[in-house]
Amino acid sequence: MLLEGKTAVVTGAGRGIGRAIALAFAGEGANIALAARSEVELEETRCLAAETGSRVIAVRCDVTDPSSVTAMAEVVLAEFGVVDILVNNAGYGKFRPFVELTDEDFTRTIEVNLTGAFRCIKAFLPGMMERKSGRIINVSSVSGLKAINHQSAYCASKHGLNGLSKTLALELRPYNIGVHALCPGGVTTRLSEEEMPERDKSDWMLPEDIAHVALFLASMGPRATTDVIHVRRFGGEPL
Ligand SMILES: NC(=O)c1ccc[n+]([C@@H]2O[C@H](COP(=O)([O-])OP(=O)(O)OC[C@H]3O[C@@H](n4cnc5c(N)ncnc54)[C@H](OP(=O)(O)O)[C@@H]3O)[C@@H](O)[C@H]2O)c1
Repeated sequence: MLLEGKTAVVTGAGRGIGRAIALAFAGEGANIALAARSEVELEETRCLAAETGSRVIAVRCDVTDPSSVTAMAEVVLAEFGVVDILVNNAGYGKFRPFVELTDEDFTRTIEVNLTGAFRCIKAFLPGMMERKSGRIINVSSVSGLKAINHQSAYCASKHGLNGLSKTLALELRPYNIGVHALCPGGVTTRLSEEEMPERDKSDWMLPEDIAHVALFLASMGPRATTDVIHVRRFGGEPL
């Protein structure tokens, strides 16, 4: 098993890509802490992940609230003692022309996708630095690599997340902590269905396709790493 004895925290694990990552990691033997706001969805993921025999806990957490992130980290560390892998996957998008974007749309997008990841990293990094070991996987997007029409706030948040990831990858080298920005193209989830209802998604990726790549990143050996990884559907454009 690739992640036997490891403990992973996955934010936004109630559905979509986060759920698929949690199930993939649990299937490879990791202890898992699931975090999101919806208790019902978290419980569904917890039951599915627990079927693998791994230890799984669900902790309600809103990454836009610093005290909620602190409380989540306390519960996770009390349960598992250490966290080896942090997956910042919680995400939000409001796709519309810039002129229609409100202050609230913009602020919320940055808060969830960028500041939320910052807060979770702050919460779990001290333990990783102390042990000189750890992996941080930030689920970014192709929108963090190029401009996409009607996604100005989302693109800004994901470009920011890539900047944070690359800088941390540099800064945390002496601590043997790998930091990865995982940048998928179109994946069929609630987010893409709600924000791009008009798009034909028949050839889009499934959450499991992204989970497969997250598992690859989480289980890379000690000598090689990758900083920014772009995963696109076959029918999508290469960068
Ligand atoms: N779908 C795509 O095409 C695509 C492509 C590239 C990248 N991504 C990225 O992949 C990640 C997962 O997205 P998805 O497509 O799987 O969307 P999704 O199905 O809507 O799932 C989003 C997850 O994030 C959680 N979340 C949202 N706001 C949160 C908050 N304030 N605090 C804690 N958790 C929060 C949601 O749970 P609650 O609402 O219960 O909190 C949910 O579990 C996101 O970062 C997204 O930007 C998606």
